[in-house]
Amino acid sequence: MNQAYNIGLMKVGKDVMIWPQAKITSPGSISIGDSVIIDDFVFIMGGGKISIGSFVHIASFTSVTGGGELVMEDFSGLSGGVRIYTGNEDYSGSYMTNPAVPHPYRIPNRSFVYIKKHAIIGANSVILPGVTIGEGVAIGANSLITQDCKPWTIYVGSPAKPVRERPRKRILELETQLCHKLYDSHGNYIPVKERGNYGNTEESNS
Ligand SMILES: CC(C)(COP(=O)(O)OP(=O)(O)OC[C@H]1O[C@@H](n2cnc3c(N)ncnc32)[C@H](O)[C@@H]1OP(=O)(O)O)[C@@H](O)C(=O)NCCC(=O)NCCS
Repeated sequence: MNQAYNIGLMKVGKDVMIWPQAKITSPGSISIGDSVIIDDFVFIMGGGKISIGSFVHIASFTSVTGGGELVMEDFSGLSGGVRIYTGNEDYSGSYMTNPAVPHPYRIPNRSFVYIKKHAIIGANSVILPGVTIGEGVAIGANSLITQDCKPWTIYVGSPAKPVRERPRKRILELETQLCHKLYDSHGNYIPVKERGNYGNTEESNS
């Protein structure tokens, strides 16, 4: 059964599918836009503010933990097995570490991860806290992101390095075409069941 409309999310749009084996804690701090798919075996730890835009996919075995803020803008995606950390322990040795150790012996750092529009994170990549993945960025599989990624650039490796540009103009043109079909003249999303022929696969591919 789709969990999207019965777990008490702060906000949830239309055409959202959260598969039954996905696990979401503190859903009251999580908002989700329209046309979003969260696969089975995704784990999202709410608590910090989590904002997921529209046309977002989160694939199986991906996790979001750390207790900080996550913003995923429209048309962004997380492939399978991605690890997003929005908070961190103090690894320097100034304090003890891990959530079983009480304050003030352990000082966790709640932070953020921002994933801008049209960014895609390749399978099994790790995103550490405090980074912004710029608009249109693609992260290769198995990458480690420790720093901000500049827009419309492909990054690979551990730590990830920029390897080449991604075509901004092309993707933004496609976005314009798609939105023209899927939003009405007042800017409201048209759900699948009200669309008629709009937005079907053949039209989207033409
Ligand atoms: C990053 C990526 C998009 C590059 O694809 P590509 O343009 O076809 O690149 P190529 O395969 O020609 O590789 C170019 C170079 O980058 C290296 N490379 C490619 N992907 C890499 C990765 N993930 N990590 C490290 N190096 C990588 C290649 O080894 C090659 O190196 P070389 O020039 O020294 O031989 C792709 O390799 C990738 O990782 N895609 C993610 C796929 C994924 O996670 N899908 C999940 C389902 S959505």
